[in-house]
Amino acid sequence: MTQLPGLLDTEAIRKDFPILDRQVHDGRKLVYLDNAATSQKPRQVLDALAEYYERYNANVHRGVHVLAEEATALYEGARDKVAEFVNAPSRDEVIFTKNASESLNLVANMLGWADEPYRVDHETEIVITEMEHHSNIVPWQLLAQRTGAKLKWFGLTDDGRLDLSNIDEIITEKTKIVSFVLVSNILGTVNPVEAIVRRAQEVGALVCVDASQAAPHMPLDVQALQADFVAFTGHKMCGPTGIGVLWGRQELLEDLPPFLGGGEMIETVSMSSSTYAPAPHKFEAGTPPIAQAVGLGAAIDYLSAIGMDKVLAHEHAITEYAVKRLTEVPDLRIIGPATAEDRGAAISFTLGDIHPHDVGQVLDEQGIAVRVGHHCARPVCLRYGIPATTRASFYLYSTPAEIDALVDGLEHVRNFFG
Ligand code: ALA
Repeated sequence: MTQLPGLLDTEAIRKDFPILDRQVHDGRKLVYLDNAATSQKPRQVLDALAEYYERYNANVHRGVHVLAEEATALYEGARDKVAEFVNAPSRDEVIFTKNASESLNLVANMLGWADEPYRVDHETEIVITEMEHHSNIVPWQLLAQRTGAKLKWFGLTDDGRLDLSNIDEIITEKTKIVSFVLVSNILGTVNPVEAIVRRAQEVGALVCVDASQAAPHMPLDVQALQADFVAFTGHKMCGPTGIGVLWGRQELLEDLPPFLGGGEMIETVSMSSSTYAPAPHKFEAGTPPIAQAVGLGAAIDYLSAIGMDKVLAHEHAITEYAVKRLTEVPDLRIIGPATAEDRGAAISFTLGDIHPHDVGQVLDEQGIAVRVGHHCARPVCLRYGIPATTRASFYLYSTPAEIDALVDGLEHVRNFFG
């Protein structure tokens, strides 16, 4: 068995993930390499979800009965866990949403409805990048269409990194918000936050970081990032679907208007007007994803017990091994950084002129789950002149043997298509 420095004890970790024992396609061992799409869930998270529904289920913040109080304590306890996990100065800066897309839409709408000095209007500019997931493109396009603001973006270098050579022309005195991904879901690139934040701060623009592919894989410190908003989702970090997070700086959350109106987000309501609860509740209209938040809390407990620095070291070792092995496959072109430095654990590639959907299907027949397509980042495919990629993405339970299986599987694909 291949041993690499920095690897976690995957034999022990994999026992926590029942699904990893599954067989598919008549007895083939499942090799799950689609972790950037969603991670698998450990028994500890599945148990926390079952226990919540079996013992505590009630609506939060409303009832005076025992279950309502216990459910509220669990939901708010999950907020404490998230705050600690991302080193937020205050738990009131953690807003629960349903996913990262909703978190990013929330930021765009806050700014669209805001008064000065935050308001985005026809005299202002919004900056994103060409490597964004659609969830960090479309909300800004909608906002630009609605307000007349100009949408600008950083382009990409040939090796899959942000081209910041024209940073002073892209981020200007007119820029209101710069929103960019910390780790690309398609290229795997880890972006240079510091340089972008420095320029944004120079011109007084707000900064929003999409950390969906970072929070599951590395220590995340919102204070060190020096951003104004950080968005991520629970289901990519061992948590359930249906729960996302938006962290925002407290003074901004106090000043900015709500996006969704409804129960729980108000202070008082009359027939002619309403006043709002303080953040984070101002941004959590309606019954929130209670069980999902509890599940996310359990996921955070699970990851924290292992240690995010150890998760990062494991994935770095696996990614380095994967880059090395994939580079040996004839006709394989990595789309994105072709080294393990400054990259996350998602590797996109093309294989000669075999369509990625064919690659994915033949790999699936061998039990190997990868994602194919444009990965909700179509502008990246347009930039590199390809219709789609095959993407293998790893997590804390991924093993060198699974990388070997992928490489053998690709050999089979090449033979199959002659
Ligand atoms: N954003 C997810 C992915 O990259 C769905 O696969």
